[in-house]
Amino acid sequence: MPTNRTFFFSFRWQIVLTYLLIIVVGLTITNISVLNILGSYMISGRKETYRLYANWIAQVISYDYASGDPDILAGIGYDIQDFGEEILNKERESTRILVLNKNGVVDYDSYNIIRGPDSLLKQNLGKEFPEIGLVLNGESVEPRELYIRPQNSKESMLVLYTYAPIQHERHGIIGMVIMSTSLSGIEQTLDEVRTKLGAYSMAIAVVIILTSFLASSYITKPIKELTGVIRLMSQGHLDQRVKIRGSREFRQLGEAFNIMSEKLENLDRARNEFVSNASHELKTPLSAIKVLTESLIHMEVDDPSVYNEFLNDINSEIDRLNTIINDLLTLVKIDTEEVQIDQQPVDLVELVKNTLRGLQILAQQKHISLEAFYDDDLTVSGDTVKLQQVISNIVDNAIKYTPDGGRVTVEVYENSGNAVVKISDTGIGIPANDLPHIFDRFFRVDKARSRATGGTGLGLSIAHKIILLHGGNIRVVSEEGKGSIFYIELPLNL
Ligand SMILES: Nc1ncnc2c1ncn2[C@@H]1O[C@H](COP(=O)(O)OP(=O)(O)OP(=O)(O)O)[C@@H](O)[C@H]1O
Ligand SMILES: [Mg+2]
Repeated sequence: MPTNRTFFFSFRWQIVLTYLLIIVVGLTITNISVLNILGSYMISGRKETYRLYANWIAQVISYDYASGDPDILAGIGYDIQDFGEEILNKERESTRILVLNKNGVVDYDSYNIIRGPDSLLKQNLGKEFPEIGLVLNGESVEPRELYIRPQNSKESMLVLYTYAPIQHERHGIIGMVIMSTSLSGIEQTLDEVRTKLGAYSMAIAVVIILTSFLASSYITKPIKELTGVIRLMSQGHLDQRVKIRGSREFRQLGEAFNIMSEKLENLDRARNEFVSNASHELKTPLSAIKVLTESLIHMEVDDPSVYNEFLNDINSEIDRLNTIINDLLTLVKIDTEEVQIDQQPVDLVELVKNTLRGLQILAQQKHISLEAFYDDDLTVSGDTVKLQQVISNIVDNAIKYTPDGGRVTVEVYENSGNAVVKISDTGIGIPANDLPHIFDRFFRVDKARSRATGGTGLGLSIAHKIILLHGGNIRVVSEEGKGSIFYIELPLNL
């Protein structure tokens, strides 16, 4: 057992880990989705704003840019810087504004003054960036974000590029505006949200572990209890039962277990009773034989008829032993299902007639009238010899337990798909509190009397088993002092 515990997680931990796995997967998917949705929402808002800025700047400078007057053109450079600062103040993100001429060469750069060396002035960007050509050709190009790594910096940053053509009413597209702005603010916000979501997720995971740990203890309690009870039962304490509680499945398991343990207990009790009854039954004739033999040994009588009498007694005790052992063997065979029932068509009327023929003599000896009434053609399927044994046994009982001069009646008829053999007698009857035990092994109403009549108390239990094997049923109705009625019901072979 301990090795199991070493190599496998307990059921309780399996529950906790399963919950945890579900939560981790669930929260990860949720967190990633939330961050993605939030990020694209913020970025698309920013794109829209900057597209408006770029178009606005392009519109504002278009007239001056087309003028060709050097003084006016020089003013544009200052205007661009002013726009840059204005946007920085508003958006709190540094923004670079470039104005490119028709050929893609940079005419103005808002960073020109602040960062002289980095200036892109007079550089032809058209070759490097294909989208510039598209804009200058009058196509609309969507703003786009890019990760770039500025010179002297180790970390790359997310930058948004926005384009707008500079239109002139007569000359058409005379250049374009490019705006680039850092999206680090958005990245920072997303980072903060990510950290917060992570912290919440951790807190949720901790709460889930704790609650699932508590819940798992509740769930596994019935299993632990069941294991304990099974262990006790395996040590021989068969009177153990579990408390019915927990979920529906555990309640069903508990109920099934209790039914099983009750059956096991009954079986054990029946086996013990059977062994003790069988020993007792076998002991009685053996003791008689022992007494008779010892008397014979110590007897000093010359008369052979006395020896003969003793030997006859011994012989009949041996017969009784034989009967008991044969009955026991039949029962054991039926119990272990070694007995196979021949499923042959059996004419029940014929079978009962044949059986009664042998019993008539027994009835006549006791001056009992044995009468029979038959319906036509009742065929059942089964084993002729075994069914005959059942009828013989029950009619034999009826004769045995009916005083001289009484009456035994046998009727064979059909009733709702069953063939019925009804055996009624005017005998001593069976007390009501003994009726439920009448088919138990070794059961006799009056132990002393039955032993005197030679019964073992196994006849009815054998009969009962045989009829059950045929898919039928035996019932008894009896009143003490008035008589008994046995009904044997067998499914008709239609
Ligand atoms: N027709 C009956 N009238 C009254 N009591 C009966 C009748 N049939 C059975 N019994 C009671 O039921 C008990 C059990 O019957 P069962 O046939 O099993 O055993 P038995 O007749 O005593 O012995 P055997 O094994 O020889 O048949 C009998 O001992 C008797 O007390
Ligand atoms: Mg009997």
